[in-house]
Amino acid sequence: MCCFENFDRVPRLLAAGTAAQAMVGRTSGGLAVRRALSRGVLQDIDTATHLLRYAVNRAFGRKRMVGSGAVIGVPADATSAERGALSTAARDAGLGAVRLVSEPFAAAVGAGLPVFQASGTMIVECGAGTTEVAVLSLGGICLTRSVRVGGVALNQAIADHLRFRHKFLIGEHVADQIKQEYGKRRNTGLEAVAEIKGRSLVSMAPALFRIPLVEFDGVMEKHAGQIVDVVRTVLNMTPPELSEDIHAHGVVLTGGGAATPCLKDMIEAETGLPVIIAEYSERCVARGLQHVLLN
Ligand SMILES: Nc1ncnc2c1ncn2[C@@H]1O[C@H](COP(=O)(O)OP(=O)(O)OP(=O)(O)O)[C@@H](O)[C@H]1O
Ligand SMILES: [Mg+2]
Repeated sequence: MCCFENFDRVPRLLAAGTAAQAMVGRTSGGLAVRRALSRGVLQDIDTATHLLRYAVNRAFGRKRMVGSGAVIGVPADATSAERGALSTAARDAGLGAVRLVSEPFAAAVGAGLPVFQASGTMIVECGAGTTEVAVLSLGGICLTRSVRVGGVALNQAIADHLRFRHKFLIGEHVADQIKQEYGKRRNTGLEAVAEIKGRSLVSMAPALFRIPLVEFDGVMEKHAGQIVDVVRTVLNMTPPELSEDIHAHGVVLTGGGAATPCLKDMIEAETGLPVIIAEYSERCVARGLQHVLLN
């Protein structure tokens, strides 16, 4: 994500990443916040070029990166047009030879799974825009399916629930906080009441709304159910030898959304397989890409 001044004429990057995230919905005048990626794929090539150039400058300063290579994670089912656009953005940003690596593969490597052995491993990589389910063996992806559903869609579902059921408007950041609070309290006290700041569509004024977290049960379960359906589809297509391995080792969840409320429990209940949330799940893709880059 990037925040630009003068985006339509000569764009000047003011902030990127977390700093730009804080500006969503708060911009004024000639400022514009743009997402380079949406639902896991490149949607704005110019913004992607600015974002990559910003990242390169932060990492290397003014040093030239002659001969240095780069790896970039892409969804396993990215089209050749999407891959081509990303390579172009990387080249325009000044990166040298770029290698595109499937994110579920990188996530599995980053989670320390034995992807190069003759043994099946199932990974569910839970991102902001997409969730990818893959079975890996012998250093490659045997099977993969993805759903354009992730943390952002869950935040939207939480906001929609409050809007349509309670006539209360909240922003994406507040929805994200509710999701994380629900996750923390799920096993200890969902009767806890969340105090939500937003705008009442009845009084049309800023307001504080109190709601028991348990009211979000249906929203969380419906969301996790969409991911469970994909896991089931992939399991149904998996050859018996690989199924046997997956039954022995279980399913591994990676990505920032690995702790998505209900997800682990629902996959376990629906498939009978043990489910493990990878350690530092949000860093698995980056760690896996680093491994690929250095080896
Ligand atoms: N504790 C948590 N519980 C549930 N979701 C979480 C938690 N912490 C972070 N998330 C979600 O994880 C998502 C970010 O994950 P990640 O960084 O893996 O996504 P991404 O790589 O940017 O997205 P994509 O792979 O789809 O392009 C956000 O939607 C965020 O709300
Ligand atoms: Mg990701």
